[in-house]
Amino acid sequence: MKNFPYHLLILLSDQKIHSGEEIGLALGISRSAVWKQLRKIHNAGFNVSPLPGRGYLLDETVDLLDEAYIVRELEEKYALPCTVMTEIDSTNSYLLRALQVGSLPSGLSVVAEAQTAGRGRRGRQWVSPFAKNLYFSVNWNFQSGMSCIEGLSLVVGISIAEALREIGLQDVSVKWPNDIVVANKKLAGILLEVMGDPTGLCHVVIGVGLNVYMRAGQISGIDQEWTALQQLLDLKIKRSEMFVRLMHHLVNNLKKFERDGFAAFISAWDSYDAYRGQEVCILLGDRVVIGVASGVSNTGELLVSNDAGIQSFSSGEVSLRKRW
Ligand code: BTN
Repeated sequence: MKNFPYHLLILLSDQKIHSGEEIGLALGISRSAVWKQLRKIHNAGFNVSPLPGRGYLLDETVDLLDEAYIVRELEEKYALPCTVMTEIDSTNSYLLRALQVGSLPSGLSVVAEAQTAGRGRRGRQWVSPFAKNLYFSVNWNFQSGMSCIEGLSLVVGISIAEALREIGLQDVSVKWPNDIVVANKKLAGILLEVMGDPTGLCHVVIGVGLNVYMRAGQISGIDQEWTALQQLLDLKIKRSEMFVRLMHHLVNNLKKFERDGFAAFISAWDSYDAYRGQEVCILLGDRVVIGVASGVSNTGELLVSNDAGIQSFSSGEVSLRKRW
């Protein structure tokens, strides 16, 4: 949402009663502007109760990103720089713009409370309401061109799934190449964007969106079945802790991937593969291939077996569907 009144939400997040006058003075806006902002906050899925003669009360805790915690944890434990933002068009676009101006270290990340133009794969939008989910991007530099990043998107999927299993989400899996799903509903998405020399130094911006508190009814504009962490388990950790955990798995796996390649992840992939052994349809433009999903190759291509034998597919060219 553009112009989301996050200053007001931050002010209300102490869950104390605030009068309209006090809010107007604190934010330097008129009473009618206060009222309009309260409506926007309500429409974004936060419960704000008007208490006649007293003011307004936010009836729920808002899990804001804890910038000091995130920056300290990533710096002290992993020596990684991180920028925490209130709002940005897209964390991926932010890093891509920064890469046009200069180089960035591997592992540098940016995480935002909200995105006004969050982007998904295949030109889709990624719905990114304030403080409801996690939206972040990480830069990683590869020295030997695009060929050495084959399988990378699967490694990112494995990393997210590992962190989710660690917090108790046992039935999470990865739909090739990198949708994080639970019971066929999408929980998180990954967008990789590559810049630089296709045969030499290239930079990959790894964007991750993980649904945390988002609830149906609050949200429109998502054209596929989705779910969110809070609907799936008794969520005991805050978004900031979740982000640091995700970064831990991601960075460890990226280092291993750089060193050993995708082959080192095949058995991990097998334990997260959403469709292994199931009948699937592969959509290649207007051609459809039907077969049984049979794992992935040493470079992360999808293997499908049918009467014609085993065929392999790379992620840029096809769409995968379960055959019902
Ligand atoms: C998908 O379509 O499944 C990929 C979704 C990726 C969304 C994340 S949110 C953080 C980063 N910034 C973006 O604009 N997109 C990615």
